[in-house]
Amino acid sequence: MTEAVNEVELPVSSDEERARLYPNVVFGSHVFIGSGVKIGTGSVIGHNAVLHNDCQIGRDVRIDDGVVIGKQPLRSLASAVTHDVSLPPTIIGNGCLLGTHAVVYRGASIGDGVLIADLATVREQTVIGELTIIGRGVAVENQVRIGIRCKIETGAYITAMSTLGDYCFVAPEVTFTNDNYVGRSEERFKHFGGVTMQRGARIGANATVLPGITIGEDALVAAGSVVTRNVNPGMVAMGSPARLIRAVPAEQLLTLSQAAIAVHGAV
Ligand SMILES: CC(C)(COP(=O)(O)OP(=O)(O)OC[C@H]1O[C@@H](n2cnc3c(N)ncnc32)[C@H](O)[C@@H]1OP(=O)(O)O)[C@@H](O)C(=O)NCCC(=O)NCCS
Repeated sequence: MTEAVNEVELPVSSDEERARLYPNVVFGSHVFIGSGVKIGTGSVIGHNAVLHNDCQIGRDVRIDDGVVIGKQPLRSLASAVTHDVSLPPTIIGNGCLLGTHAVVYRGASIGDGVLIADLATVREQTVIGELTIIGRGVAVENQVRIGIRCKIETGAYITAMSTLGDYCFVAPEVTFTNDNYVGRSEERFKHFGGVTMQRGARIGANATVLPGITIGEDALVAAGSVVTRNVNPGMVAMGSPARLIRAVPAEQLLTLSQAAIAVHGAV
């Protein structure tokens, strides 16, 4: 995937060393490059970017100012649910775009052509499929799997242990949840579970989805809903609590051509 490789044990410390190791990469000012970092030809790295040890950046990647790649997770002394684990290097695929101050943790794997917009965060043990868009300020928590060609819009919260199939759409400020015990009782540890969206499922703006819920293939959750029960494939769910009200109009069902519109069209 990548061509230039920094095999030195220490961070790259001089402009000369950087030019030797990464001759076909454009760097802004004050870029930190850890040991073992790979950067593909044609990539452009903005000012004050931080590329931690071992991260693998593909070809023709644009990394804007202040981006951090390969951040180690923080573990609070008071945290009951995070554990120290050894994480593999961060992988950023070919042609990705990372906006200003985006943060991608160590142990995240980002497919080719993914856009991660300004201020978004992608946590460890997360996989994002090719050509997916992660909008401005989106939080993708740990252990999340996101398929190809999804759109996750500004400010959405994708809670830990969630799974999104291919071609899913998550509107602005949608909130996923994974703890029905809301931080109390030992019992909760047995029941943590994120949200599952099957292929082509869509969720309207500002909806809240409760822990462990599945939104079926091609289903639609209306804006502002609170989803407390699974949503059947191809159905519209609306309200608080959300109720199934009708089938998704046939012309909105995902076909290969509509999948292309969903990604490249005017939405
Ligand atoms: C699902 C959706 C498309 C339904 O809209 P719609 O087809 O105009 O709804 P209907 O015409 O069938 O409305 C039927 C009734 O439900 C109400 N209703 C519509 N959307 C509602 C919603 N999200 N929540 C609660 N009630 C809703 C209507 O007011 C109407 O009530 P009434 O008969 O008493 O007047 C719409 O609610 C929605 O979620 N749009 C998505 C917007 C969005 O988030 N886009 C993302 C990109 S920004």
